[in-house]
Formats: sequence, C-alpha cells, structure tokens
Amino acid sequence: MTTPARDLEDKTVLVTGASSGIGRATAVGLAARGARLLVQGRTPERCAEALAEIRAAARAPVELIQADLASLAGVRAMAEEVGRQTDALDVLVNNAGVTMVRRQTTSDGFERTFAVNHLAYFLGTGLLLPLLHAAPAGRIVNVASEAHRFGRLDLDDLDNEKRFSAMRVYGQSKTANLLFNLELARRLAGTRITTNALHPGAIRSNLGRGGGPLLDGLQRVIGLFMKSPEQGARTSIHLASSPDVEGTSGRYFIDCAERSPAAHARDPELARRLWVLSEERVGLAYP
Ligand SMILES: NC(=O)c1ccc[n+]([C@@H]2O[C@H](COP(=O)([O-])OP(=O)(O)OC[C@H]3O[C@@H](n4cnc5c(N)ncnc54)[C@H](OP(=O)(O)O)[C@@H]3O)[C@@H](O)[C@H]2O)c1
Repeated sequence: MTTPARDLEDKTVLVTGASSGIGRATAVGLAARGARLLVQGRTPERCAEALAEIRAAARAPVELIQADLASLAGVRAMAEEVGRQTDALDVLVNNAGVTMVRRQTTSDGFERTFAVNHLAYFLGTGLLLPLLHAAPAGRIVNVASEAHRFGRLDLDDLDNEKRFSAMRVYGQSKTANLLFNLELARRLAGTRITTNALHPGAIRSNLGRGGGPLLDGLQRVIGLFMKSPEQGARTSIHLASSPDVEGTSGRYFIDCAERSPAAHARDPELARRLWVLSEERVGLAYP
C-alpha cells in the first residue's frame, strides 16, 4: 500500500456527516494526508466508532463535534464550536445528508430532506465563511448527486407540501446543492475561496436505511453491486486537496473529472432566487 502524500499538513478541515459512509472515508483519507480534522457527527455510537478509525489514520489532532444538522440551532451550534476550535478553516466538506421515505418536518418547520441536505450546507457555509477567508486559500466541497437529474426544483413548494416522493425530494435537495455551489462561486469570485460540487458514485453506505426491514434488506442486496465508501470519498478528497483544482470554482465533478450538471441545476437565475429564499429561511444574510 502506498503512503498518502502529506499535502494537508498544517491545514484544518471540517467534514460533516463523518460518522458514516462517504464522510467517514473522506475524513480518514484527509487525516492520513496530515490535516487537522474537525469531524461533525450525530449518532453517538457511530461517532465513537468513526472517531477511532479516523484517529488511527491521523497524523494530527482529530476533534469530534456532535450536532444535529436538521435544526438551524444545531447548525449554529456546530459553527460556534468550530470557531472555538480554530481561527482559520482551510477546507469545509459539506457532506451530511439523508433520504426520507416519508415526509417529516424539522423543529423549524421545514421538510427534513431539504433542511439537512440544503439548508444545513447553506447556513453552515455562511457562518463559517469568516474562518474560510482567514485561511490562505479556503476550499468548500459540496457533496451533491447525479440524483439531481430527476429533481427539478419547485420554488413555490420547497417543503414539498403539495406532493412527496422520496426520490424526487432527494433529487431536488441535490439540485439545491448544485445551485448553491453555482451562486456561491459567483459571490466568491475575486476572493481566495473556491467552491466545487461532486457526485461520489453509487456507494454502499447507510443512506436510505431505516425504512423498515424489507427496504433495509433490499438495500443490503443492492449494496453488493455498489462501490465502497473509500471509492466514494475519492472525488471529495481530490477537491479538498489536489493542486489540479487550485483556483477552480463553481464546477461539478464525477470521478475527479469535471462534468456538466443538468440544465435546471446550472440556471443562474434559479440559483439567485433559491439563494434569497434560503437566506430568509435560515435567517442569515451572507456578507
Ligand atoms: N451513497 C450514495 O450512493 C450517494 C450517492 C450520491 C450522493 N451521496 C451523498 O453523499 C453524502 C453522504 O452520504 P452517505 O451515502 O455516506 O450516507 P450515510 O452513510 O447515511 O452518511 C450520512 C451522514 O450524514 C449524517 N447525517 C444525517 N442526518 C443528519 C443530521 N440530521 N444531522 C447531522 N448529521 C446527519 C449521518 O449521521 P448519522 O450517522 O447520525 O446518521 C452520516 O454521518 C450525502 O450528502 C449523500 O446525499 C451519496
């Protein structure tokens, strides 16, 4: 086995959703490259297991930040804790995500998939921007999905009150990731911070689990044909660390190569309108 390059030495990295799947493998990979890791997790047992694995690979300190990102208060608590732990953030990997079989609302009253997959990325990034600006060349990595292709956004029904279909709602949240990435890149142009999005591949993970024994069993069978979390982490690690993407911003990657998202996910006007609605929802005006 080759030893990973120490190209992230002296850099501080936050990975959300690092207790499981792709986020956990991303955190292990970045820790092995010498980064000082801040890892956000939620479920205590999964956090403990993941932390042990990440620390075993690490060459610098690894700190756990426990937070539930389904609530705006949880996202704010995470950002405050990051602020206590560091004066500068070199890389932010927005990765935590869910799929919901049935419609649920959060304590703030938002549909849960949209809240965790989009609003948490949006608010967390906004709150952490000053720390990213304080780094020599901050990088934001947004884990999106090819599922965006069947998730055209309806700005009049962001909480899917009119109709709910799990795959469509998940796809919409991933379209929101790409529109967020696009508008964020436009706003960050001329600064030292870049932002890029990616699809990790079809990866064996806990995503979609908890829908009942039948669905979970089916997922396990399908999982046999999927790629490993380590394979799923490659593009996130590439965007977080490679000199090849220095200065690249607002783009979408699959297998470490640039790809074009669906037309509805690269519509600048839609991106601006979603931005305004997101600011209202999270109660944060970006600088
Ligand atoms: N797997 C795929 O094939 C695939 C394909 C395309 C895109 N993606 C994207 O990849 C990312 C990671 O997913 P994964 O496949 O690795 O799934 P996963 O194994 O279920 O991991 C998801 C992570 O997000 C965390 N999370 C979920 N809800 C949260 C909440 N309310 N507050 C805080 N953390 C929360 C989970 O914490 P707990 O451990 O506490 O649940 C876990 O750490 C997601 O953004 C997903 O949309 C996955």
